[in-house]
Amino acid sequence: MNTTGRPGLTLGLEGRSAVVVGTGPAIGRACAVGLARAGARIACFDRDEAAAKSSADAAQAAGGESTAHVVDVLDRGAVRAAFAEVARLRGGVDVVVDVVGASRWSPSADTSDGDWDDVLALNLRQQWVVAQEALRHMIPAGSGSLVCIASVSGLAASTLHGAYGAAKAGLMSLVRTLAVENGAHGIRVNAVAPGTIDTPARAGDTALAAKVPLRRRGRPEDIGDAAVFLSSAAASYISGHVLVVDGAASVVHPLIALD
Ligand SMILES: NC(=O)c1ccc[n+]([C@@H]2O[C@H](COP(=O)([O-])OP(=O)(O)OC[C@H]3O[C@@H](n4cnc5c(N)ncnc54)[C@H](O)[C@@H]3O)[C@@H](O)[C@H]2O)c1
Repeated sequence: MNTTGRPGLTLGLEGRSAVVVGTGPAIGRACAVGLARAGARIACFDRDEAAAKSSADAAQAAGGESTAHVVDVLDRGAVRAAFAEVARLRGGVDVVVDVVGASRWSPSADTSDGDWDDVLALNLRQQWVVAQEALRHMIPAGSGSLVCIASVSGLAASTLHGAYGAAKAGLMSLVRTLAVENGAHGIRVNAVAPGTIDTPARAGDTALAAKVPLRRRGRPEDIGDAAVFLSSAAASYISGHVLVVDGAASVVHPLIALD
């Protein structure tokens, strides 16, 4: 909130109906809390009831009305029903931030068919399903914003991330296509590509900070703030964009070492 009395960014999120999909304790919660602080009314979707409820509570404590919904995003019927419930409660679906995603680490030569399919389902197929089900509400309304959380692993190769990198690269392509297809409906579609983020699941990766020009790993709030910006009126002419949030890690020339 701008309390300086001087003109500042207008986020325009007050009272907006926002859905955060995948509200674990790290990036998802930071997105829910960030949107709540900006005045949005939050719906937290997660297959884990505790994750949905605790992030809804955190969003409520940050000042936003919030609800928790147990939803498995691999189940289209469940996703459709959850969006219908949000539209019934809030009168529409204005903003969606889809955070769900996870990797399984294995060399590509050893990745099983099952692991490949599971990683593609969680990091690419479900975002397509969530987008389709959200668009059912946004297209008739003539407005909306969708943000997908991708990864720098979709921009540059890293070992053990074959399926995950392919899925995140595909997700960025899907985001661009959705932006082009739905611009005439007043709908913006963007992605955030995080670098290494200090989350409970990646807590052991502390040595990575030395490889980042900003000399620290990202915080979940760094990704939440990027998602809030892209969802807001301050980004009203930004669509089809991938916002890299990685402390400049991905622009270091590969042949130089940081001092
Ligand atoms: N942590 C990092 O360093 C990092 C880096 C780059 C990108 N990312 C991306 O950021 C996103 C969030 O990462 P995180 O570390 O906060 O993840 P996380 O595992 O803490 O949270 C993911 C949430 O998604 C939920 N979820 C998983 N499968 C689901 C399903 N089928 N239906 C509904 N909910 C489901 C989980 O219950 C969990 O609450 C992911 O897309 C990840 O790929 C993370």
